[in-house]
Amino acid sequence: MFNPYNDFNIVAEYFPLKHTFPLCSRTTSNMGTKSLSLLLASVLVAYYVYTPVPENIEERWKLMLINAGFRTVAHWLGLVHYMEVLMMITSIEYTAPISDENVTITDTKFNNVPARLYVPRKQSSGLKRAVIYIHGGGWCVGGSGKSKAAATNAFVFLPQRYRLAPTYHFPVQFEDVYTVVKFFLQTSVLAQYGVDPNRICISGDSAGGNLAAAVVQQLLDDLEVKVKLKIQALLYPALQTLDLDLPSYKDNENTPILPKSLMVRFWSEYFTTDVSLKEAMASNRHVPAESSHLFRFVNWSNLLPKKFKKDHVYASPIYGSSRLGKKYPGFLDPRAAPLLVDDTKLLGLPVTYVLTCQHDVLRDDGIMYVSRLRKVGIEVIHDHIEDAIHGALMFITSPTDLALGHRVANKYIEWLNMNL
Ligand SMILES: *[C@@H]1O[C@H](CO)[C@@H](O)[C@H](O)[C@H]1NC(C)=O
Ligand SMILES: *[C@@H]1O[C@H](CO)[C@@H](O)[C@H](O)[C@H]1NC(C)=O
Repeated sequence: MFNPYNDFNIVAEYFPLKHTFPLCSRTTSNMGTKSLSLLLASVLVAYYVYTPVPENIEERWKLMLINAGFRTVAHWLGLVHYMEVLMMITSIEYTAPISDENVTITDTKFNNVPARLYVPRKQSSGLKRAVIYIHGGGWCVGGSGKSKAAATNAFVFLPQRYRLAPTYHFPVQFEDVYTVVKFFLQTSVLAQYGVDPNRICISGDSAGGNLAAAVVQQLLDDLEVKVKLKIQALLYPALQTLDLDLPSYKDNENTPILPKSLMVRFWSEYFTTDVSLKEAMASNRHVPAESSHLFRFVNWSNLLPKKFKKDHVYASPIYGSSRLGKKYPGFLDPRAAPLLVDDTKLLGLPVTYVLTCQHDVLRDDGIMYVSRLRKVGIEVIHDHIEDAIHGALMFITSPTDLALGHRVANKYIEWLNMNL
């Protein structure tokens, strides 16, 4: 018998367990019942799955289905932190390292933080280029690392499984990544892996782009690190916590994959599980008046090109209680919000590649960083993808792959291949 409740749960399995769409494989003795069930199920599923998707996005239904998968899994597991859901999905996809004829994959530890190394087998004469990749939500790391290694013929190193919210809060994540990157950048370690110290890129997507940008800034002042990074590549990074009402937040309040409410949750839970911070962030009244001087670093009225401002009107910030700022100073810390540094700090940064997606709450974070870096004379390559949503790069493994994911990945890899 058709049971909508079961069918909903089965829809949830579609995504994480990689089953084929279950409604099609159900067997019922009576053909009439079967078609009726199918029809009803399709209507219910369509109702359940439907999410408004921006006009210019291709493969709309597939995206909606994936998005519904995310939502369902999150819902299914009750109040489990969404990041844990994503990690669970990864661990299902996450396999033991499987090397192939092109890439040797090894899991190791650098200063006790797990790291995975992808080393191209093709014998290149001389030293190898290297990409340090910091994962965001984390679900796509295995596959993408491999394709990057093969495509760029570079050595790829991924800090794995840094300690996550909500168990751990800032600055633990930052420090884990910083420690492991710093360990890797030692001349002796680079020599051990045959890496050319002049051709190293640090890269990351989403939360990983946040960590990459923060780590690169902090490395500038670290006298123990002698190696200079050649490139930082930030893929739809999160870069600031101050203004969660930017035009991109307003335009994409309900865009699939990363609606505003979820980003607010990510941000607040990076610092605390105290819901008062989340609530204050949701109404954009979390920054205390004492920190008003920081707003100039994220002033979209100055930092966004006209095209992205559209008809949004800049309003002066509304300040929150100083209690939150004192209790959770992390959200005012540039190691969490790299846009909050002074221009002088930006001066030493390497060549920067920034990829932004039009339909993404984080779009303006990336664009404002581009503006600020260009203003102080840093060489910036900005790829803005008009028909992309946040997280495009995680959709490159079947069955949740999208043409968009492959297109964005190819764009980034091609650029890296030419410039690293
Ligand atoms: C190895 O590289 C070759 C050439 O790029 C490619 O055709 C082949 O599919 C790769 N093998 C695997 C297992 O990815
Ligand atoms: C932001 O920029 C606008 C326009 O240049 C300016 O009027 C406003 O005072 C600035 N606000 C802050 C907080 O820097």
